[in-house]
Amino acid sequence: MINHELKINFAEYPDITDLNKSDYALCKEAVKAMENSHSPYSKFRVGAALRLQSGKIIHGSNQENVAYPSGLCAERVALFYWGANHPDDPIEAMAVTAHTDEFEILQPVTSCGSCLQVLAEYEKKQNKPIEIILFCANGPAWVMNGVESFLPFLFFENRLIS
Ligand code: THU
Repeated sequence: MINHELKINFAEYPDITDLNKSDYALCKEAVKAMENSHSPYSKFRVGAALRLQSGKIIHGSNQENVAYPSGLCAERVALFYWGANHPDDPIEAMAVTAHTDEFEILQPVTSCGSCLQVLAEYEKKQNKPIEIILFCANGPAWVMNGVESFLPFLFFENRLIS
């Protein structure tokens, strides 16, 4: 039996104002994206913003449904919009944030496994890692370069790609 240990790497900034200018601006876009969250069931509003190589910004927010499983996370709303509309303009970075009136969020919201798997797919497709910036209003910002440090055992099988 062999015991393996994995290390993950991410940077923590005390506040989004400590990020570089373009990442700070992207965080502000994620806050704007939250405005269109449709979350009457969880009351948990999530906003995601993508910055593309051209400088274009894409917004996504969680969209819930009375048939609960029909809803979708903010990250995948943004990522699938990118895939459908701007697939040739690589994604440089994604910023994600959340807010609820029910309690105070003190730690960045970490994207769910399904969103990370979708992110992994598009990193492979564009052959470039995507910087992930997670933050909340009264807490730090966490920055990772690429999805793999986040989801080391993501599913990928090259032989399924023709
Ligand atoms: N949600 C996201 O939008 N992104 C995540 O990474 C985790 C959760 C949404 C889904 C649902 O609308 C609400 O947050 C509560 O789970």
